[in-house]
Amino acid sequence: MARPTNRYVCQACGAAFPKWGGKCDACGEWNTLVEEAVREAGAGRGARVGGRRVDFADLSGSPEVAPRRATGIAEFDRVAGGGLVRGSVVLVGGDPGIGKSTLLLQVMCRLAGSYRCAYISGEEATDQIRMRATRLGIATAPVQLAAATNVGDIVAALDAPQGPDFCVIDSIQTMVVETLESAPGTVAQVRASAQELIRVAKRRGTVMLLVGHVTKEGAIAGPRVLEHMVDTVLYFEGERGHQFRILRAVKNRFGATDEIGVFEMTDHGLSEVPNPSALFLAERRGDVSGAAVFAGMEGTRPLLVEIQALVAPSPLGTPRRAVVGWDGGRLAMVLAVLEARCGVSVGANDVYLNVAGGLRINEPAADLAVAAALVSSLTGVPVPADAVVFGEVGLAGEVRAVSQTDLRLKEAAKLGFASALMPRRPRGRRGDETIRILEFAEVSDLLPLFQEQPGRPVARG
Ligand code: TYD
Ligand code: MG
Repeated sequence: MARPTNRYVCQACGAAFPKWGGKCDACGEWNTLVEEAVREAGAGRGARVGGRRVDFADLSGSPEVAPRRATGIAEFDRVAGGGLVRGSVVLVGGDPGIGKSTLLLQVMCRLAGSYRCAYISGEEATDQIRMRATRLGIATAPVQLAAATNVGDIVAALDAPQGPDFCVIDSIQTMVVETLESAPGTVAQVRASAQELIRVAKRRGTVMLLVGHVTKEGAIAGPRVLEHMVDTVLYFEGERGHQFRILRAVKNRFGATDEIGVFEMTDHGLSEVPNPSALFLAERRGDVSGAAVFAGMEGTRPLLVEIQALVAPSPLGTPRRAVVGWDGGRLAMVLAVLEARCGVSVGANDVYLNVAGGLRINEPAADLAVAAALVSSLTGVPVPADAVVFGEVGLAGEVRAVSQTDLRLKEAAKLGFASALMPRRPRGRRGDETIRILEFAEVSDLLPLFQEQPGRPVARG
């Protein structure tokens, strides 16, 4: 029988080579070749692939609804799609120090009342985990702890008759499959470890929560391979200096992916934030120019957040454009529309845009709020302090309708806002809102708002 040999597979295009090289000859990518063991097929070359016949089923059969195991932490359950599904594998990614271990320890302690829960750490000693649990005030929960990195040993423990229903692996980058020679943290090890753990999860119905570190580029280490293998990918994110933490689903085979969970970091661990709008607006100063409150949606939940802009004369030949929490390309587009359709010239200015509180916004509905903040900063005239803003901006300068208008308005009213600057609605689509609606068909219609104060005309190109 031929000895199993190793080959080097490009993680970008899948080409295989007998020798390692820095560059893939097939697609030209660098540093993508990864060692893989070749499994010899039983029969020799040319053998036909044979097997049992696959049974087909009707599309109309009644599907088995996967029962959810709710953790009782509402912000977590919402992101997971209503709770964790038996036998599912969840990858929780995030920067080091963002709070992944804390979150998952809290989740395990909540579940430990009803299920057998295990927390396996390859990074911390059991004493360290105990100390953390004591600090969080949850040390009495019957969670089983272990410090281990050998996947074979871990699988044996999970397979035991009284094996856990939930298991945290912190982190997947520290796990080692003994039969593989590569170092822990390499793509080959990460993938092989995950494969073993996923297999045991599916076989036993264990819910597996894998912690994954994030590389400098922002992807979970082990380029993409992990994200394809698991059922659910959650990212835990937030700005270092802020106390808010956002849990976001980027992939979920058992639920929607646009939900977020909001947490606040405290001395006693992460506490849920059921009303994030109030939190995100807590430090707002009403009357400054360059700020607009955007009425956004995150999944099924409305979320108000302040968008801040600063437009200042640039000393540089090529003015700076810096964005935190929003898309840089989208900012360039809004600036171009303001310039071309409204005659607002920002060409010689540095432009800074910031979403307050460390939140990241992906919605095009923020365009109008960004435009309002920019014009406000440029003219020095504040956006009305009691107004929220939302609407998508098209290249022709038109303000386009966005979804979930009613929910946005309701949230604004709930938080005490008195008016909304928003896209024009078709006739007959007026709700019974309590707040004053200012409808805009064109971005240029915004400009008169910023001319109210005498002596401070809107800058025109
Ligand atoms: P940790 O959970 O260890 O982060 P990660 O596993 O993502 O690397 O948290 C990092 C540090 O922050 C740790 O020293 C504990 C502290 N921390 C708090 O004090 N309160 C909190 O609510 C959280 C989430 C963390
Ligand atoms: Mg950790």
